[in-house]
Amino acid sequence: MPRKIILDVDTGSDDACAIMLAWLHPEIQLEAVCTVKGNQPLKYTTENTLRIRELLHADFPVYRGCAHGLVSDLVYPRIPVTKNADAVDEHGNVLHIHKELFDLPEATGKCEEMPAPMFYVDYLSKAEEPVTVVMVGPLTNLAVALLIKPEIAEKIEEIVIMGGGHNITNVTLAAEFNIYDDPESALRVLHCGAKITMVPLDATHTAYISKKESDQLREISTPEANFAADLIDLRIMVHDQVQPLEVKGSCALHDPLCIAYLIDPEVLQNVSLCNVEVSLSGITYGQTIVDQRYMQKERNVYYAFRGDHERFAKILVDAFRH
Ligand code: BDR
Ligand code: CA
Repeated sequence: MPRKIILDVDTGSDDACAIMLAWLHPEIQLEAVCTVKGNQPLKYTTENTLRIRELLHADFPVYRGCAHGLVSDLVYPRIPVTKNADAVDEHGNVLHIHKELFDLPEATGKCEEMPAPMFYVDYLSKAEEPVTVVMVGPLTNLAVALLIKPEIAEKIEEIVIMGGGHNITNVTLAAEFNIYDDPESALRVLHCGAKITMVPLDATHTAYISKKESDQLREISTPEANFAADLIDLRIMVHDQVQPLEVKGSCALHDPLCIAYLIDPEVLQNVSLCNVEVSLSGITYGQTIVDQRYMQKERNVYYAFRGDHERFAKILVDAFRH
């Protein structure tokens, strides 16, 4: 039986690959996609999601979600995003790892009427079978749904979150982007009582995707495989310049690793059940704090400290092949 999932995205480059993997893989049943602001403002993350749906000739419903975090953009003084170095192309133009809009035809299809948090409340209240929620953007939509009806947490089989970082951070010296963008929502979700698996930068950077995989995707030569290859090549250019990984010519393809975990849990390694909290103050605003003490009692998150490149690469490429 394929695993039923709801996928929550802020469609940028790696979110797009997560949607494609979820749609293409036979072991995943994509019930719905919810959008949230994050990599770009909501109107772009939603339009990008619709464009990917059309690229795939898919028919999953798309629910437009929250345009702002719970309070994060009102918090003052908030530690600003660290001024990070820019990657440039061969002409010296700045490369953006997430374009405002994908170079794909404008979407003709529309979103559903119901806003994403209401969809969670409605769908989960009525759900008779287990459903997994995969969150690969800021956690606002589910946090708002949990504020409205906390009991829906009991209907969720597992929440898989791309977010956080223990040894690796990106958006500030202390924080990873998805958690930093709405840390108050992240805390709500981390303490909702459902089983939670966190796929942080520690896992996505070690389960890197390389030029070898983008070449294999190009050989498949379908429109969606070519598009995924383009996104991966862009990410490799950026990573090599500003955030090099263990292997030159590779990138972190964060969001699809959450989908790959549902297909083969072994893609995550060194997984430890521990207490994960989120800092809401000062220079560490948005930091995930991972308790590793033996004595800790309140353990809320399965936290993955590593990922397996070989397994992840195979799942990704095979899904486009079939
Ligand atoms: C996360 O932030 C976003 O930019 C990516 O899509 C990913 O979900 C990585 O920190
Ligand atoms: Ca994302």
